[in-house]
Parts: sequence; structure tokens; C-alpha cells
Amino acid sequence: MTRGGRRQNTLSRRLRGGRRVPITARSTEDRRRKEDALFAHRHLLGIESLTRDDIVTLLDLADDYAALNRQREKKRATLRGLTQINLFFENSTRTQASFELAGKRLGADVMNMSVGSSSIKKGETLIDTAATLNAMRPDILVVRHQHSGAVALLSEKVNCSVINAGDGAHEHPTQALLDALTIRNHKGRLHRLTVAICGDIRHSRVARSNIILLNQMENRVRVIAPPTLLPEGIENMGVEVFHDMAEGLNGCDVVMMLRLQRERMQGAFIPSVREYFHLWGLDRQKLAFAKPDAIVMHPGPMNRGVEITADVADDFARSVIEEQVEMGVAVRMAALDLLARQIPNDRGDAE
Ligand code: NCD
Repeated sequence: MTRGGRRQNTLSRRLRGGRRVPITARSTEDRRRKEDALFAHRHLLGIESLTRDDIVTLLDLADDYAALNRQREKKRATLRGLTQINLFFENSTRTQASFELAGKRLGADVMNMSVGSSSIKKGETLIDTAATLNAMRPDILVVRHQHSGAVALLSEKVNCSVINAGDGAHEHPTQALLDALTIRNHKGRLHRLTVAICGDIRHSRVARSNIILLNQMENRVRVIAPPTLLPEGIENMGVEVFHDMAEGLNGCDVVMMLRLQRERMQGAFIPSVREYFHLWGLDRQKLAFAKPDAIVMHPGPMNRGVEITADVADDFARSVIEEQVEMGVAVRMAALDLLARQIPNDRGDAE
């Protein structure tokens, strides 16, 4: 049966040995208490600040939300009364939509604010904007910004929870978590796997967050890219470096492709798009070097014919790209839920 076929029925997870078990909601009071104790963070700024237990707690809760999202009735009252503002200084379609749906399904009042329609264009600074929004008493701010560190800085200036939805080339924690959930669904585990991250590593916060998470869970991480698209000191992040796709993909369980981030490139990082595709674009021939059951991932948006062929991207037997999007909503619901539990009932004028 194809993956697409299975998707219409029940959500399942593969156990070691290949058996599949359905993923069902299994929340109990006990479990909730354990979750509260394990995930005691006020903000979600990066994978770097999460422990293994935090990651597993969040993914287990996201399993429940993934099951809920396949029901006709998807709404919960978990965030009722809370205000979530999505503050995006950089264009985004899927991440913003995903956070918006996640907040709405949990019953929050969600407001989207994009840079195009804000006073930032009129010269207001990041901190002024943060202070203005803060005065409106949101409970959760979801922030994307083009500069590394900007979201952490903003979190120090407000008295609500902050989720990093991508800051420069630094971190994109919910993307790494949704990737992890998708991998766990397909491989039945999130440890001792060989994962190849391929392409524009240098400009990618997705790569950085994934490297940290996958290392934290004790996987083997490889990066495959031309030398110009690797950041300095990448070897110190606990990865094996390859410049050749055939060598790097050999024996991999997971092939994670990245978008060529041309908007972040000043100068020539690649000889030409054609040459890049020829050497580093994922097609059937290159994919054949990975394990026969290796899955193919991409955070989107995809440049078909640049980093991946349409043929591979649309092959439901190998590509889990659509499932990544689906798991994105579930992971963001889990993140919002866990952070909201730390918000006191009487927020008063604390801090
Ligand atoms: C990624 C991002 O913005 O960092 N995309 C996303 O979150 N949907 C990756 C990318 O832009 O290439």
C-alpha cells in the first residue's frame, strides 16, 4: 500500500521490526503532570536549550495533536482566553499559516502582523515594536526575523512567551521538531539513524537546528555540500562533511534536502544553477546511493529542478514532504500548549 493510501486511514508509527501501531490520543492526568515537569520553559528560542526529555515530551504530545488534526472536530479550548501574535519580519507562507492554524485549533485569539504592514517600514526599531505589542498584553509572540539573535533579544524585552519561528541563519526550532516527528513516524525511532543534510547548509537555520536535535538524540549526521555552501567550523558541530552526493548518501536512512537560499547570498556561491543541480540536486540516480527505504525530506519552499527533481519530490513511496507540513501544525500545537502551561493565571505586572 502506498504511503498516501495509509494516510487516509489511521496515523501509525513503525516499531522496531517493522510492525505498525496506531497513534492514538492517550492523555492522562499523570502524563500531563510529567509533561509539565519535563518541559519547564518560558520561551522556545532554539533546540540548543532543549534536553532530550524536552524533545521527547514535545514529540509525544504532538502525536496526540496529529491524531486530533485528522478528526472532523479539531478544536480544543487549551489556549482559550490567550492572545497569540505572529510577528513576521520576513516573508513566510507555510510557517505563518501553520502557527496560525495551531493557535486557532487550540482556541487562542491569533493575530498576524507582517513587516509589510507594520511601522518597521516607517523606521520603528525592533525593540519599539516589541514594546508596543507587549503593551497590548499578548500571551505568546511567534517571531521570525532576518537577523540571528533578534528573537532572543526581543524575548528579553517582553513579558510574554516567545517562540522563534526562524532567526537569520541561526535556529528554526519548530522545523527541526516537525522533521524529527516525521522521521520518528517513518523509522520507528529517533536515534542511531544516519541522516544526510544536503545543499545550502551555510545559510540554513533549518540545518543548524536539525544538526543540534539529531546529535542530541544520538544519530549520525552528515552534511553534503560544495565547500562554498558550508559555514566555517561546521566540523565542530559533530557532523561528517562530504562534498560528493554519491559518497555522502551511501547507506543513509534519511535524505534531507535544503533550498538554495539565493536571497541570502551576496556574491557567487555556486558556478551556475545548472551545474549545482548536476552535482548536488537530488534525482533518482543519486537517491539510489541511500538505503532502499530512505525517506526524502525538504522543509519547503522547494525549487524543483534546482535542489530536487519533481519526480523524486512527488514520489509518495519515498518523499515525506507533505507529511512534514502536516506534522508542522501538530508540533506547533504541542509547543504552544507546553509554553502556555507556564503562563500564570494572574499575570499582574510581573517583571
Ligand atoms: C525554511 C525557513 O524559512 O527557514 N522554510 C520554512 O520554514 N518553511 C527553509 C527555507 O526557507 O528554505
